Amino acid sequence: MQFLEHFEPELVVASPGRINLIGEHTDYNMGFVLPTAIGKKIIFKFKRNGSDTICNVYTLGYEEGFQIDLQQLAKSEIEWHNYILGVLYELMKRTDTLRGFDCTIESNLPTGSGLSSSAALECGLAYGLNELFGLGLSKLEIVQLCQTAEHTFAGTLCGIMDQYASVMSKAGKVILLDCRSLDRQMIPISLHPYKIIMLNTKVSHSLATSEYNVRKAECEEGVRIIQEKYPEVQSLRDVTVEMLQEFSSQMNETVYKRCAFILEENARVFKVTRALQNNQLKKVGAILYEAHHGISQQYEVSCSESDFLVEFSKNYEQVLGARQTGGGFGGCTLNIVHEDAVDDFVKNAAVAYKSAFEVDLEWFEVAPSEGTTARWMK
Ligand code: GLA
Repeated sequence: MQFLEHFEPELVVASPGRINLIGEHTDYNMGFVLPTAIGKKIIFKFKRNGSDTICNVYTLGYEEGFQIDLQQLAKSEIEWHNYILGVLYELMKRTDTLRGFDCTIESNLPTGSGLSSSAALECGLAYGLNELFGLGLSKLEIVQLCQTAEHTFAGTLCGIMDQYASVMSKAGKVILLDCRSLDRQMIPISLHPYKIIMLNTKVSHSLATSEYNVRKAECEEGVRIIQEKYPEVQSLRDVTVEMLQEFSSQMNETVYKRCAFILEENARVFKVTRALQNNQLKKVGAILYEAHHGISQQYEVSCSESDFLVEFSKNYEQVLGARQTGGGFGGCTLNIVHEDAVDDFVKNAAVAYKSAFEVDLEWFEVAPSEGTTARWMK
């Protein structure tokens, strides 16, 4: 694209991916999550280009770009374009001061790996344009408009966790977020001498075309059945274990399993938070294993590759716990590993994974990191 030849950015934005320690699929059920941003991120470089409506976006890794007219925003056939287009569409609905810009995008965040590369893309763009054009949106408004963009343009009826974690995280903390009230507590996390090691199955999910929306509908079906007797129930957040048991014979087995998982997963968020606060790391690990069992058997959003890696980790006493993180059907497993055992663990996991699936395992360490940041260049 031509603008790249003389591109001197005015603004640079770093937009991170996230991990979720515990609380999977609870966000769209108005429950609790415990995520944090990580050091892997997307870097956006922005410049106003003087045009009223023409924008140029270019990804450096893929050497691919496209031009957008702000007056003609419509869904694209190309998946990643929709994250950009959706955000621009939502911004245009809220402001009349957005103008043409040029932007490059560079990322070291693996896509489709359960680390919220899509939220990082949406939020980094919205955050940068808010700053560049002084749109006056709060961080929470940015988070919410990006979630809406994902619903309408990308087609995933996601909860708020990914966008919230990407924008709001603080280094060294996990966010205990109530996805109904959006109250949050920043919980300090110190795992020393353990590290958070991510193993990437390289099974890439596509949430929009996967079972994600089906899971959401199954949970809503559970709520609908319970509401017949308890009309005050608005979401699974309002359902107690006793209430759910009362309906076990009126729900089909699948819906019951999904709802039971969500109730248990919400409880696990508090158990992990307490264990972190009391420095009971073994307990944290045990709850992660328990959660993976639920992800795999009750909520059924795992896959044989993730199950294999979680099982493999159990061979190591120095691995306290592991589970698949993110929307599911692949992506990464999150492992809490003693620092002395990391090399050995990842080496042997790679050998075992290769012989089981003929795939080269990728691994990296992550640490709770700062959310989105923006820096003016002049
Ligand atoms: C995806 C969604 C989130 C959340 C997770 C599962 O990452 O975008 O809103 O539902 O899956 O916890």
